[in-house]
Parts: sequence; C-alpha cells; structure tokens
Amino acid sequence: MTDIASADYFTDPALAQSPFEYFDALRELGPVYREPHHNVVVVTGHSEVIEAFKNSEDLSAVNAIGGPFPPLPFEPEGDDITEQIEAHRHLFPIAEHMVVMDPPDHTMARSLLHRLLTPKRLQENEEYIWKLADAQIDEFIDNGRCEFLGEYAKPFATLAITDLLGVPEEERPEFRRILASRAETQHTVGALDHTPVGVNPLEYLDEKFKSYLEERRRNPQDDILSGLATATYPDGSTPELIEVVRPATFLFGAGQETVTKLLSSALRMLGERPEFEKMLREDRTLIKPFMEESLRYDSPTKIDFRLARKTTTIGDVDIKAGTVVMLSLAGANRDPRKFENPNEFRLDRKNLHDHVAFGRGLHTCAGAPLARIEGRVTLNRLLDRMQDFNINEVTHGPADNRSYEYEPSFLLRGLTELNIEFTPAP
Ligand code: HEM
Repeated sequence: MTDIASADYFTDPALAQSPFEYFDALRELGPVYREPHHNVVVVTGHSEVIEAFKNSEDLSAVNAIGGPFPPLPFEPEGDDITEQIEAHRHLFPIAEHMVVMDPPDHTMARSLLHRLLTPKRLQENEEYIWKLADAQIDEFIDNGRCEFLGEYAKPFATLAITDLLGVPEEERPEFRRILASRAETQHTVGALDHTPVGVNPLEYLDEKFKSYLEERRRNPQDDILSGLATATYPDGSTPELIEVVRPATFLFGAGQETVTKLLSSALRMLGERPEFEKMLREDRTLIKPFMEESLRYDSPTKIDFRLARKTTTIGDVDIKAGTVVMLSLAGANRDPRKFENPNEFRLDRKNLHDHVAFGRGLHTCAGAPLARIEGRVTLNRLLDRMQDFNINEVTHGPADNRSYEYEPSFLLRGLTELNIEFTPAP
C-alpha cells in the first residue's frame, strides 16, 4: 500500500487541501476498496460510483451526509438490515431532510419540490439572477479588487434561493445577514474534527418558512409561497405544513455552499489561466463547457455516502449489509478509465457532461439547473464588467508560488477565500 493510500481521509488535514492523489492511489488498489481506518468502502471508479448511485434497492441514503460519523446506532445483523435502519432512522443526521430519505418518503418529499422547480419558475428566477449578479458586482466594482466568496458568491447564492422561494423582497437582506453569519460557524459541518454532522443548520429557515406558509394557507395569494402552501401529494392528499417547509428550506442548505464553491473554483481557474479567459471573452458559448469542466475538475461535493441495506456487490466487490460506502464523486470525475488525462482542465472533452458532480439516480441534485444558471450568469457578467482579472498576489503569492487554502471539510471542496484584482470595464 502506498503511503498516501494508508492515510486517514477523515482526519488528515493535508488530504482536505488536496484529495486527488489519495483518490488516485485508492483507485489503483481497486475502484471499490476498503480503507483501513473506519472500515468504509471507498468507491473511486466512475462506472462503479454510477452503479452504486443507481442501486437504491440495496443501498440506503440514510447516512448520505455523515457516513461513518456518528457510528451506526445499532449493530447490523444478517444480510438485510432494512428493519434495523427504519427502527433507528430518526437517530441519523438530518433525518428530516429528503437527501437522507429512501422511498416511499423520499418520493413524496421530492414530489413537492417538483412543484416548485418548474421550468417557468426557473425562468422567472433566471431573470432575477441576471439583475442580482449586477447588484452584487456594483457593491465592489469601484474598488478594483474583492474577496470573491464574501463579496459575491455567498450573498449571490443565498439571494438567488430567496427569490426562487418567493421570500418577500424586504426580508431578503435579513436572510443574507443571518445566513452569512451562520455559514461562518457552520463550515465545520463535515469537518475533519468530526464535528457532529447532525446539527441542524436549518432551524432559522424552518421557523421563517413555517410562518410564511401558515399565513398563505390561511390567506392564499397569487405567489410562489401560496403555491407551495397549497401543494398536494400526487395522490391528492395534503401534506402536513412541516412536510412542505422542509423541502423548501433544505434548498438553502444544499444550494449555498456548493454554488459558492463552484463559482470560486471556476474564477480561480480563469485567474490562473489567462488563455481560458481569452477564449471565453472571444466566444461566450464556451462558458457552458467551462462550467461543466469546473464541476468535473474541482467537484464541490467531494464525496457522498450510502449504507448497504442488503448484502450486495459494487463492481466485483462483495458488500455486506451494514457496510458504510463512500462514493467519491471527485475520484470518479478523475477516473482515467473514463476521462482522458483527467488531471488536465480541458474544454474540448467529448464526454464533458459525463461527470457525476451532481450525483445520479433518485437523489440526483434537484438544484443542478439553478447551479448551472448561476455559473453561466456570473461568468457572463464578470467578463462584461471587468476588462481583466488577476489573482491578488498579496494574499495568494506570485504566479510561480501560489497559495490557496481549502476548507477543512471531508465532504465539500472549496476555497476559504479568493482575492482578485481587476480593471472595471468603462
Ligand atoms: C454546484 C452546485 C451543486 C452541487 C455540486 C450539488 C451536488 C449535489 C449532489 C451530489 C447531490 C446528491 C446527494 C446524494 O445523492 O446523496 C445533491 C442533491 C441535492 N441538491 Fe444539489 N448541488 C448543487 C447545487 C444545488 C442547488 C443550487 C440546489 C437548490 C437550490 C440543490 C438542491 C439539492 C437537493 C434538494 C438535493 C437532494 C435531492 C434528493 O435527495 O432527492 N443543489 N446535490
């Protein structure tokens, strides 16, 4: 076993800064491989990750967020632990949110979200997002520099979701303020120090949305919140209020940090590689492939978990019921069997769209269309409003000796800050 393959992914701070060699080393030992520290089976092969995502019959999403932390609240027995999972489900982190649900509860929760994420709603939301991008840029454009995460990406991602959900205009600044301060304390969720992932970061939002939706159930209006408040399940039954609140508020948890990470890694790439900036300025249709390649190359969600509910196989490896399985999206997206020269950032890949950054199967990211819009709009407006942009050498060092810091999280990959300098367009 190479040294790096024997490292503890969940505690080694160096792997949080750069996880790719670790995933490569594990893949060389086998695309489905049991790591020695936490008894977790790590899947780094592209086809094997897709196979696992699609096998929702044998693999439960109940531990999708926490994986081996906290440890299972029961001792698995036999080749089918479905009943044990159901008896202890409420003890798993964020058990009330759809991302860790299995059918039929997941199907019901997701059906409510479909009511919200209609093509019409996304189109209206996109109109707002174009204006929002400019409003954010206006806040710092005259300074000729910015810290991109705090001054653009985080407020932008938060406000885009407030609009999607129909939060009244006058309350959006409060959401921005409260969620920004929370993000600072909460990026340790899924951190290397094993901070319990069970802390519910969404309580403030639950309270807010409960009050909005209660009011709309009493007095329906012609707005998005009323549409949500009166949404019914496919069988015509009316959900409990909290069952509508949760899919709505979960969007903040799922769509803020991830989008912030995508936007900052894309901008970092442009700052580092002027040839890409030039290409995108000359041909804006390249923005789409650029964003897809950013998703593949620097997948914001590095990993995802499943729990083997039944004894099964992934690839040609036997998986015993009760096994914690870690699906490495970042590893799959750099699998050389799928992507030629995977460590190169290239816009001319034929299979650019085959990355698994948004997962696959039942839980495929519900916000992927929104994330893509946010990426496309951001790059378009930055290119329009800035004549050039460069990485700030005072904070990140000169071009031949850069330093970037990534959040100490085993779940997500994202810069802690990105300082850029630019010349405003006339
Ligand atoms: C670049 C940005 C994003 C990335 C990389 C990302 C990634 C993912 C991944 C990998 C999953 C699957 C989790 C699993 O199977 O266990 C997921 C699920 C989800 N995402 Fe995203 N996401 C992003 C943005 C968003 C946005 C903007 C929203 C909404 C506003 C969103 C909403 C959701 C929801 C609701 C789920 C759960 C779906 C389900 O359980 O059925 N995501 N996301």
